[in-house]
Amino acid sequence: MSDKQYVKNILCIGAGYVGGPTMTVIANFCPDYKVTVVDISRERIDRWNSDDLPIYEPGLKERVLKARGQNLFFSTDIDRGIDEADIIFVSVNTPTKTFGEGAGRAVDLQYIEKTARRIKASSKSDKIIVEKSTVPVRAAETLSKILHSGNNSVHFEILSNPEFMAEGTGIHDMENPDRVLIGSMDTPSGRAARDELIKIYERWVPREKMVTSDLWSSELSKLVSNAFLAQRISSINSISALCEVTGADVDEVARAVGKDSRIGPKFLRAGLGFGGSCFRKDILNLIYLCEHYGLQPAADFWQQVIAINDFQMQRFVHRMVAAMFNTVADKKITLFGFAFKPDTGDTRDSPAIHISKMLLKERARLWVTDPHALNNARQDLEDVEGEIVYEPDPYKAAEGAHAIALMTEWDQYRSLDYRRIFDRMEKPAFLFDGRNHLDHQALFDLGFNVYAVGKPDRTRFNNDSQ
Ligand code: UDX
Ligand code: UDX
Repeated sequence: MSDKQYVKNILCIGAGYVGGPTMTVIANFCPDYKVTVVDISRERIDRWNSDDLPIYEPGLKERVLKARGQNLFFSTDIDRGIDEADIIFVSVNTPTKTFGEGAGRAVDLQYIEKTARRIKASSKSDKIIVEKSTVPVRAAETLSKILHSGNNSVHFEILSNPEFMAEGTGIHDMENPDRVLIGSMDTPSGRAARDELIKIYERWVPREKMVTSDLWSSELSKLVSNAFLAQRISSINSISALCEVTGADVDEVARAVGKDSRIGPKFLRAGLGFGGSCFRKDILNLIYLCEHYGLQPAADFWQQVIAINDFQMQRFVHRMVAAMFNTVADKKITLFGFAFKPDTGDTRDSPAIHISKMLLKERARLWVTDPHALNNARQDLEDVEGEIVYEPDPYKAAEGAHAIALMTEWDQYRSLDYRRIFDRMEKPAFLFDGRNHLDHQALFDLGFNVYAVGKPDRTRFNNDSQ
């Protein structure tokens, strides 16, 4: 393999949710490029090299198997990877700072900076550096300053190429993107670097979908895209609260509103609020930027998107407790789903984490079931006090429960035998659908008291005994 001649060597630093799948897709479409993914975590790399990949994403495994060992390699030898690379994608995590100035808002850039220093130390030839991680505006400038500091004859050209894929549909999104955004300096070397990246993407992305811009606009566009998506979710969730008290149905409202072609139907699903590694973090970053530049009203506007998201989770728990006669203490509550969305095992910032903590504070006994996220759930709740049981089988998880609360809209939860589940639950049996995913009328007909987001309660207390 090592003798094989490749057109170019691509390196990706960071073998996470973004780096791993992106490089797999590139390796599949560009068999003549050598693609190496490196990470500081040996465990992650070992899993990328095994049958048990570190992340679950539909379609990923077959694509990894197709290219791995041919032109796709996973390694912990970061310095050698850097030395050999022509193009380096930086895909390390950029979490929210937990300490010092800007804690809880600003992005913690330490991994980006460490990566830049390592690239500088191990580079003997010119390279293109691609920011794949979501970064604050003008992060490319910081990167460039570090890379070109001191006595260094090597030239680094920095590009911004944010990733817009969503988890669970990551492979599909990368293979059929709405757009590929590439930001570069408007200099001859900047344009040449940009064209190198276009050469890769044009193997499978039509030219009209490539959007080129300056670096700062590209960096900001990523934050703004996520902020706009999250803002739509908070908008509809704020209306769901109003629906619950007025007797309107939020899905009907979303359908009517979404028919306006200026508004459009997507991202108007009311639910428990948004989770995932990006939305909260990127909005916080945007808020920090606005505040940094003295734009407090703009910062306050975006802060409200987060406030509504938190409100939505609190409302859900409040409704549960109120419905269950104002106490859930010592009651068994089964959570259907824990991932922040279906078709992924990822639980980062999942509403289920926040809701579990609130329910445990109320002293509920929690049983958690999820087809792919139980290991992550266990880690998320490991320091939380209270009774928590993790059970892969939803039937077992719901046995003897007072209530089921649906957190994640996994397909399989629609086709469960709810009669069987109902028969084995405590009565009155409660079902709280946090994602408006189930057939509420059918569940009500079986005997459940059903509470769905943004919809009137369907309870049996006035018309029927259990
Ligand atoms: C994504 C995006 O890239 C980022 O923009 C966003 O801010 C967070 O989500 P993701 O791939 O989901 O990152 O993160 P993660 O799954 O945590 O992967 C990052 C990887 O980088 C980890 O495997 C980590 O071990 C690795 N890493 C981190 C390094 O290899 N070197 C470092 O210095 C730091
Ligand atoms: C998001 C962006 O969609 C993607 O472009 C970016 O690259 C990364 O961040 P992701 O977090 O993987 O992707 O998932 P997404 O499908 O956007 O869902 C995020 C959260 O919003 C989930 O918790 C989901 O349940 C919630 N959501 C989404 C709603 O509550 N209602 C909706 O209508 C849509």
